Amino acid sequence: MIQITVVKVNKPNIAQKGTITVEKTEKTGEVFSGVNVSGSEDSDGRALAGARLEYKNRFANEKCAIVIKDKSEEVGRKNAMKDEKSKITAVAIEKMIDFYQGNLRDIEHFLKVWAYAKTIGEQESVDENTQGILELAAVVHDISCPLCREKYGNTNGKNQELESEPLVKEFFEGMPVSEQKVERIIWLVTHHHTYTNIDGIDYQILIEADFLVNASESNFSKVSIENAKSRIFKTAAGCRLLESIFLREE
Ligand SMILES: [Fe+2]
Repeated sequence: MIQITVVKVNKPNIAQKGTITVEKTEKTGEVFSGVNVSGSEDSDGRALAGARLEYKNRFANEKCAIVIKDKSEEVGRKNAMKDEKSKITAVAIEKMIDFYQGNLRDIEHFLKVWAYAKTIGEQESVDENTQGILELAAVVHDISCPLCREKYGNTNGKNQELESEPLVKEFFEGMPVSEQKVERIIWLVTHHHTYTNIDGIDYQILIEADFLVNASESNFSKVSIENAKSRIFKTAAGCRLLESIFLREE
């Protein structure tokens, strides 16, 4: 099977541009270009079979079986996947809100961190998989705070890093999030107070997003924000937000 790009389809109800899959009966492996396609119906009854193909290369007039990828089906599938992805985040957000049992400070903190993380991730054009991990990690990043308050009387970062793993695992049990993703989320959550050895864009963005919220909630001084800008912040979007929120010219 070879992927080719349709240049022109002589039928009004078919997408005039796009990718179709060509099964050559012989000599598979060639790459086609500049293909005009015309015909009637394929074996599934969808419009256009390989009645006639016109190539601009030396394989002109060879017969091929054509399967037209139904564009609307593909778009629908992609949208469904997108819906599923954003729904997982929404489900996780609602679950996390419930987890905090009405503690507004905890609820609003994670929602703000998630919003900044989502914004920075999208502005930095991180890939879809990483964006998904980042957003879910932002949602659960302080999951151990209630337990730490009860057990240690504080939410010290090191205690959080110790206590988070089983809580994150339990949180994602039964949710359609792959084991691999959960592993990475656990890593991020258990390291989000460690600013050394930041090993990925998801980690970097989570730290920036959490800093933006903590700087506001804990009233960080201008000096410590400027220090963070030079020592912690790396992404262009994160730096823009830090400047826009805290470092405006008087
Ligand atoms: Fe946080």
